Amino acid sequence: MRQLKPYIVGNWKMNGSSADLAILKAIADAAGSDTGVDVGICPPATLIAAFAQSAGGVHIGAQDCHAKTSGAHTGCLSAAMIKEAGATFSIVGHSERRADQGETDADVAAKAEALHDAVLGAILCVGETLDERDSGNAIAIVTAQLAASLPQSASADWLSVAYEPVWAIGTGRVPVADDIAAMHAALRATLTDRMGAEGAGVRILYGGSVNSGNAAEILAIPDVGGALVGGASLKAETFLPIIQAAPR
Ligand code: PGA
Repeated sequence: MRQLKPYIVGNWKMNGSSADLAILKAIADAAGSDTGVDVGICPPATLIAAFAQSAGGVHIGAQDCHAKTSGAHTGCLSAAMIKEAGATFSIVGHSERRADQGETDADVAAKAEALHDAVLGAILCVGETLDERDSGNAIAIVTAQLAASLPQSASADWLSVAYEPVWAIGTGRVPVADDIAAMHAALRATLTDRMGAEGAGVRILYGGSVNSGNAAEILAIPDVGGALVGGASLKAETFLPIIQAAPR
């Protein structure tokens, strides 16, 4: 299989203020010109424009976008709006949005399609709950979630997938390497079933309690093409070691 450039992305969730531009600068200074790895940060939408001004080689993304281009959707942002602010991609289908905002697989596919229409990248998140893991059906459940969330125009040049077990997010718990490997292999098969050879080029990130202590082991697992990092991306001193751990 073709070697894909690792993609390490920070998801700041509902954290951060303009004072944190210094953190972005520290990350961009240390890693922004590293050609062996792609680095992204998704600050809250309020900071996209300011971050985009100072990002250097770091890609700035949004954490969500609406599927529609405009209209009566109070509080939402379209793909064109986040692009105008300076984002070059967005996360879609994060489990916190699926749980808190009731987003369905069809909603997620529509949001990803909207990003494609606006010529933006997407990181499409999937993952099982603890009950689903304990049921023994996690692989069937998560591959079905991916199949239903994949947009029609999925292709490797704009789409990445993130496998994020819900029970591993923010908990300090991480699946054993064999379970990550098995899930990523199954997600890869789902992508190639749907997209043919193109599916081999889609990066599949792992997310859920990635930190400087476990990043090297996780990023060395076959078919793990990078990491989506929450808590540990909020400070340069905890995020940079994860970037440095990426194989090149
Ligand atoms: P975490 O979050 O690294 O804090 O577990 C990951 C995520 O939700 O993307």
